Amino acid sequence: MKSFYTKFNSSYYLFLFAILSFSLFGTAHAINKGETVLITGANRGLGLEFAKQYVKAGYKVYGTARKPESATDLKATGAEVLKLDVTSEEDINALVKTLKGKKIDILINNAGYFGPVGIGEGKMAGISSVTRKEMTSCINVNTLGPLFITQALLPNLKLSDTRRIINISTRSSMLSRKSHGAIGYSVSKAGLNMVTVTMNHYLSKQGFIVISLAPGHNKTDMGSDRGKLEPHESISKMIPFIDSLTPKMSGQFWYYDGNKLAW
Ligand SMILES: NC(=O)c1ccc[n+]([C@@H]2O[C@H](COP(=O)([O-])OP(=O)(O)OC[C@H]3O[C@@H](n4cnc5c(N)ncnc54)[C@H](OP(=O)(O)O)[C@@H]3O)[C@@H](O)[C@H]2O)c1
Repeated sequence: MKSFYTKFNSSYYLFLFAILSFSLFGTAHAINKGETVLITGANRGLGLEFAKQYVKAGYKVYGTARKPESATDLKATGAEVLKLDVTSEEDINALVKTLKGKKIDILINNAGYFGPVGIGEGKMAGISSVTRKEMTSCINVNTLGPLFITQALLPNLKLSDTRRIINISTRSSMLSRKSHGAIGYSVSKAGLNMVTVTMNHYLSKQGFIVISLAPGHNKTDMGSDRGKLEPHESISKMIPFIDSLTPKMSGQFWYYDGNKLAW
């Protein structure tokens, strides 16, 4: 039988271990190594929460917004606000000019578009109502946005030793999962996943880590109040997860809680 001293000693070490693990992995305050992160669509929702938590953890944060003049919540985080509509060549060219020679360690392609009618209203553009215009809008924002923003910022990412590209996807994109019927959103995010795989093909050889990351169903304008997660819960798991990525994890699809997803 163990003596009282041995029992006390092992509980003490267990307690110490728990405290250490919590401080390393349990909060959003991943170890800041003086890194810079750029987040698209950072004026509200998950993008805004990413900005808040990265600033708090000591990162240099660029947050983009289509209308910087009204991005007051983003400004209040302390992030540097830059104008960007991810479908605008003009905005992308201006962004490239502004950021010339500046290192970006983490690019979070977060800006996203669901469609004209949100989940919260119970209706979605489906097979008999979706239009070519609507499909094109979804693909332009969700698939081509991350592709061309990444292409434009490659010189900045190449200045980093830990170059990471995080494409915010969704379980609605999964070919292996039952469809919820939002055709524009699901098809465009499935396309985004192929962008991830193809980027990985070209960029992993150059030391990049590229992943698709699904944030879970969150209470935001897009996720509606039916979301199961508060943005701070989802983001406080994703930040340390992004920090822990290794080259072997590149080119894959991950859930916000660190579990691997099927395509
Ligand atoms: N919430 C969820 O449950 C959930 C689940 C799975 C995946 N996601 C993904 O997570 C990401 C963030 O979602 P969210 O819930 O935070 O959505 P949200 O609350 O609707 O916010 C969307 C953000 O994207 C921006 N955006 C839309 N179109 C843009 C464009 N053309 N150029 C630049 N920015 C644009 C919006 O800017 P404006 O304010 O100017 O419109 C806004 O900042 C999206 O990629 C989404 O698909 C969300």
